[in-house]
Amino acid sequence: MDSIFAFYSPSSNRRLSPLLAHGHGRPRPPPAPRPSHRGAPSPDSRREFWHIERRVKPGLEDIQQAAARISTSLVRTPCKRSRTLSERLGATLYLKFENLQFTASFKERGALNKLLSLSEEERRRGVIAVSAGNHAQAVAYHARALGIPATIVMPRTTPNVKVENTRAFGAEIVLTGRDLESAALQADQIQSERGLVRVHPYDDPEVVCGQGSVALEILEDVPDAEILVVPIGGGGLISGCAIAAKALRPEIEVVGVQAARYDTVRAILRGGPPVRGGSTIADGIAVKAPGQIARSILPTHINDVLYVEEQMLEEAVGLLLEIEKTVAEGAGAAGVAALLGFPERFRERKVVAVVSGGNIDLLVLASILQRSLVRAGRLARLRLELEDQPGALATLAQCLAEVDANIVEVHHQRSFTVAPLRSAEVELVLQTRGLAHMNEIRDRLDQAGYTAQWLDAEGLRP
Ligand SMILES: Cc1ncc(COP(=O)(O)O)c(C=O)c1O
Repeated sequence: MDSIFAFYSPSSNRRLSPLLAHGHGRPRPPPAPRPSHRGAPSPDSRREFWHIERRVKPGLEDIQQAAARISTSLVRTPCKRSRTLSERLGATLYLKFENLQFTASFKERGALNKLLSLSEEERRRGVIAVSAGNHAQAVAYHARALGIPATIVMPRTTPNVKVENTRAFGAEIVLTGRDLESAALQADQIQSERGLVRVHPYDDPEVVCGQGSVALEILEDVPDAEILVVPIGGGGLISGCAIAAKALRPEIEVVGVQAARYDTVRAILRGGPPVRGGSTIADGIAVKAPGQIARSILPTHINDVLYVEEQMLEEAVGLLLEIEKTVAEGAGAAGVAALLGFPERFRERKVVAVVSGGNIDLLVLASILQRSLVRAGRLARLRLELEDQPGALATLAQCLAEVDANIVEVHHQRSFTVAPLRSAEVELVLQTRGLAHMNEIRDRLDQAGYTAQWLDAEGLRP
């Protein structure tokens, strides 16, 4: 796995010698400066060397230092047991609510730690980041608080609400390119023209250390946690968490979660079939490949990676809202989705899932909720034939009222149907109390002589 050791300096794009970048186990303090023909190295070059060392593998102490540095400017998010989800899943489940950070994701931790690591001169020059999501808001928000000019490069396809939210934090927004890759090329150019410092969303040791503070807080709150479940995009969050958690509690299991359509760990690190890609509600973890740091950490620090399908992600978002009264985005709900999809893996264990973010488009959230109501049989579609005569619809409505079925929609169709000429096809959307109630409705309709058929009933779960 040579590519793991192809490192880039975080403050420039210069490729560093693989030998320099090779791991030496625990990171060491910055080395004494070597005399050079130009005299002592500048503080910047010492820091760069330190970066290289830490890029190999940040250690527990680095993460503890980062946690101490950033804690006063962040929300100390709760990590609470979910009684209802625990009962439902047969595990003792705790949730770490990172969606309660001010910009609604853990990304603030890494971004802030990186910003605080900059020299006065770098701060004056300003920073640049490429992101269409949580990282953009995190960098913009903390850069403004620290008085650092921030440029955020976003693909032209970024939803307007995200653009405006980021702009509202005072960042200069550059909209360019069709996707993150082409936006990144433009960012490279702006970065070198203006001498800005790149704040990478995951492949930077300072960012990884900041993200690792999530695990420190989890183990403060749940010291006997047995399994930590963490979503993986570029792998910054899981790398930092795994380093911290395994150092403090070697017996803990760290389980990563990816959207099945972006199973990059399986595809890239384990030689599986190529990533399917395409649309996913977990856009925060729809990354094309794990970063270099994650590639060096995952093989030794992660017990398992689970791949969750879209339906599980949707269901997890719905359950978190319904049961925990908390808004999670798709990526943020991936941990809970893994518990739903693989209950045996977690049965009777003490599990902490990181709810990593809550920035979800309201229209997407509305559709997810509608669909989860359908899956639970609480919104159901019924098709039947009616005689085409006055009062037939009223009689049907009366029959449904007798069994407390609330009509949400009615489609009454005479022309576009294969039903006999003097009849009409009616499709109804009903609000019900679930599967048992659906059966009751069906019995009442049978009794009244209707031949009714539930649509979308396949795959319904109690
Ligand atoms: C909500 C959310 N969860 C998880 C992740 C994955 O983090 P990482 O890229 O560090 O693996 C992201 C990344 O943007 C995210 O926004």
